[in-house]
Amino acid sequence: MEKMYAACLTLAVAVSAGMPAQNVQASEELVGIQAALESQAEEAAEQNTEAQSDILIAYFTWAENAVIDETVDAVTSPSVTEPGNVGQLAGWVQEETGGDLFSIKVTDPYPADWDACLERANEERGNNARPELEENVSGLEQYETVFLGYPNWWYGVPMALLSFLEDNDLSGKDVYLFCSHGIGGLANSVEQIAEASPETVISDNIFDCYEEDASSSEDAIRSWASDLGYSRQKETESDVSTAEQRQISVQFGENTAVYILNDGSAADSLYEMLPLTVEVEDYSNNEKND
Ligand SMILES: Cc1cc2nc3c(=O)[nH]c(=O)nc-3n(C[C@H](O)[C@H](O)[C@H](O)COP(=O)(O)O)c2cc1C
Repeated sequence: MEKMYAACLTLAVAVSAGMPAQNVQASEELVGIQAALESQAEEAAEQNTEAQSDILIAYFTWAENAVIDETVDAVTSPSVTEPGNVGQLAGWVQEETGGDLFSIKVTDPYPADWDACLERANEERGNNARPELEENVSGLEQYETVFLGYPNWWYGVPMALLSFLEDNDLSGKDVYLFCSHGIGGLANSVEQIAEASPETVISDNIFDCYEEDASSSEDAIRSWASDLGYSRQKETESDVSTAEQRQISVQFGENTAVYILNDGSAADSLYEMLPLTVEVEDYSNNEKND
């Protein structure tokens, strides 16, 4: 048994020193080694997935709520263009935070024509309407943080945003707002959101940008999310290095020793060959048994 221990150490030393492993033969005996390695990687991947799902990015954008009509004359009457400003901002927040995207969509889309859309949105505002939504967020309880994006419509939020807040309870969650608008800025939008969702913790650190600046706001909105503490980038880098760190456990009799493989072609070769059983031979004087 002790002789086996010496040989296993020799194997590990030989590998880290770039020497070929000698007298190695395949066996069922160490199947547990590889399984342990795979389950470690799976565990790390699962942890990443779980971490991502704490964050929701819900947004409303006209481009994803319009009937695109090819016959609209975009010169005399401007029409919706894709991607929507808020949709684009939401995509960058998603990339920065690793959260889940949810597009708020009405069942009855708005006209793609600017004037017609303004008219319907104004009617809805006058009627204090709650346009019906295609769907609600599934598994809402799993999100602790919500980034909520919207355009300014008629000095406030599109009424569909109020439908969203009433149908999807954000109570107790940390909510960060981002908004794209014309010259009207945020107008009454924040007050409307707070009123529709009184138990929600709405941060006063709000990202907003003028409509013509939306397409060049990637850096600005990523920095905003990152400064709030929601950048996934650094976390992911350290998770990957942990996940990629390769450990092997060497069993000798009833004893087990765990080694971390270094980077190198010899270590790669050994890793590929697992599971292994090694036969014992003295390697050198300092590795000799007793
Ligand atoms: C129906 C409608 C109403 C709007 N009302 C306002 C407004 O009152 N004030 C303002 O600053 N911008 C207003 N806008 C401009 C939008 O807020 C702006 O273009 C925004 O960037 C659009 O984002 P989106 O492309 O994601 O929908 C309005 C746009 C639409 C379509």
